[in-house]
Amino acid sequence: MFPPPALFFLGTSTLLLLSLSFPLTTCSSTHENGNHNPAQDLQAMNMNMAPAERETLFIVMENMSSDRKWRVTNPNPCKPGASWPGLECKVASDNRLHVSRLDFGIPPNPVCKPTATFPAQVFELPFLQSLFFFNCFTHAKTTISIPPVIRTGTSLQQLSLRSNPSLVGPIPPQISLLKSLEILTLSQNRLRGRIPPEISRLTSLIHLDLSFNFLTGPIPKQLGSLRSLVGLDLSYNALTGPIPESIGLMGILQKLDLSSNLLSGPIPNTLENLNALVFLALSSNRFSGYLAGALPKLQNLQYFIMDDNPMFMPLPPELGKLVKLQEIRLANSGYFGVIPASFSQLMNLTTLSLENNSLTGEIPPGLNSLSRIYHLNLSRNMLVGEVPFDSGFLRRLGRNLDLNGNPGLCLNSSQALESAKFGIGLCGNNRTGSVLHPLKRSLAPSLFCNLANLAISLSVWSFYLTYL
Ligand SMILES: *[C@@H]1O[C@H](CO)[C@@H](O)[C@H](O)[C@H]1NC(C)=O
Ligand SMILES: *[C@@H]1O[C@H](CO)[C@@H](O)[C@H](O)[C@H]1NC(C)=O
Ligand SMILES: *[C@@H]1O[C@H](CO)[C@@H](O)[C@H](O)[C@H]1NC(C)=O
Ligand SMILES: *[C@@H]1O[C@H](CO)[C@@H](O)[C@H](O)[C@H]1NC(C)=O
Ligand SMILES: *[C@@H]1O[C@H](CO)[C@@H](O)[C@H](O)[C@H]1NC(C)=O
Ligand SMILES: *[C@@H]1O[C@H](CO)[C@@H](O)[C@H](O)[C@H]1NC(C)=O
Repeated sequence: MFPPPALFFLGTSTLLLLSLSFPLTTCSSTHENGNHNPAQDLQAMNMNMAPAERETLFIVMENMSSDRKWRVTNPNPCKPGASWPGLECKVASDNRLHVSRLDFGIPPNPVCKPTATFPAQVFELPFLQSLFFFNCFTHAKTTISIPPVIRTGTSLQQLSLRSNPSLVGPIPPQISLLKSLEILTLSQNRLRGRIPPEISRLTSLIHLDLSFNFLTGPIPKQLGSLRSLVGLDLSYNALTGPIPESIGLMGILQKLDLSSNLLSGPIPNTLENLNALVFLALSSNRFSGYLAGALPKLQNLQYFIMDDNPMFMPLPPELGKLVKLQEIRLANSGYFGVIPASFSQLMNLTTLSLENNSLTGEIPPGLNSLSRIYHLNLSRNMLVGEVPFDSGFLRRLGRNLDLNGNPGLCLNSSQALESAKFGIGLCGNNRTGSVLHPLKRSLAPSLFCNLANLAISLSVWSFYLTYL
């Protein structure tokens, strides 16, 4: 799961795209927005749909939804004022009304009946631009079926199948017939199998979201030909293998989310070509090895989320040069060595999450000057020395500052007033003071940890030395 800012980011760009994709010629039969043009309505009033297209629409509706007797209640579906929810029509150059958008799932859009299965007939609607199924296929198991010959091939710009628990099976290679797709969302279904390399033929794609399915196999290297891609989300699947080098060809990519898969290997250096990248999430995979080579080039990065990977290396000081960073999450990854002083240059940083690593040394005093930070988790490391935060900083972060599980950290007497919150003792060598007791108790395990981590570090470094 990712923090709201990230969703926001995708949300706004999708909205922007939507408004670009649907120019003024669109008219909604529901008349909810009220900004229609009366002259156009009058014109539309005297138009009819092609009978074949209207029949296809009725068949689709009857198969999908029993909300109404569509044929009876709405004999002229596209006529202005027809009040058919989830339907939008458009006047084309043939002076007829055509279905341009269909939206199923939750009210006010038509609700799908439990027996609804994927209606392959929609691909017969020759002017369809957008198709949405949200929370629609919930009972009867169904698969995405795209006939070998379709009429929507050059019109469909957006296909969104989201949150359909009974949508199973593979992503069919025929998806590549939808040549004009700009947004493809197949998130939160039960899709299985590999990502078909044929997806790479959809070269108009701007957003590709296959997240929260059961996809397996590698990320096809052919995806590199999606040069218009701005957002790529393959998170929460079971993808294996490395990130293909060809990822570097997606030159205008802004959001890359590959988190919660079984991806492995080092991060390819070609990532450095993605200098428009704003959001990079690689957490909960099996990545290991150095990524600092590519990092300094990612000057637009605002979110770097890579916790839960077996990195076992020092934190890359290069991160401190990415001055737009707002969020860094590198917890649970075996990082060792000191927290780089360069992190103190990240003036826009709001969240720094480094818990459960093997970090040593003192907390860099410069972190105290990060005026926007509101969440700092350094718990469960081996940091030592006096906590360098002044009382203003301690008050501002409150419970969002977590320094627990670093037995070597201590507070000076002026910070001690706040110390109850952090469970950290006073500095100094007062051997009768009560604060020393918890320190003593944790000394033995922490020494053990130190040795264990040292052993791990040594084996990782010898691995490096062998293979470099
Ligand atoms: C859809 O409707 C057509 C015509 O009413 C029918 O022949 C077909 O079996 C239906 N398909 C599904 C999947 O319900
Ligand atoms: C930091 O954030 C502020 C406000 O959001 C923004 O104006 C500024 O450009 C950011 N600084 C950098 C280096 O991105
Ligand atoms: C702590 O980090 C290690 C990797 O160093 C990981 O194996 C372990 O699962 C993490 N613990 C938690 C509670 O996440
Ligand atoms: C305690 O620590 C704060 C913050 O690092 C520092 O400003 C202050 O001078 C210290 N006070 C004493 C008595 O050492
Ligand atoms: C810090 O991380 C630990 C996991 O090691 C977690 O239990 C704790 O809730 C986090 N603290 C804060 C303030 O988020
Ligand atoms: C040691 O700590 C105790 C209890 O906190 C305090 O009463 C005593 O004055 C301290 N001794 C020294 C030498 O600071």
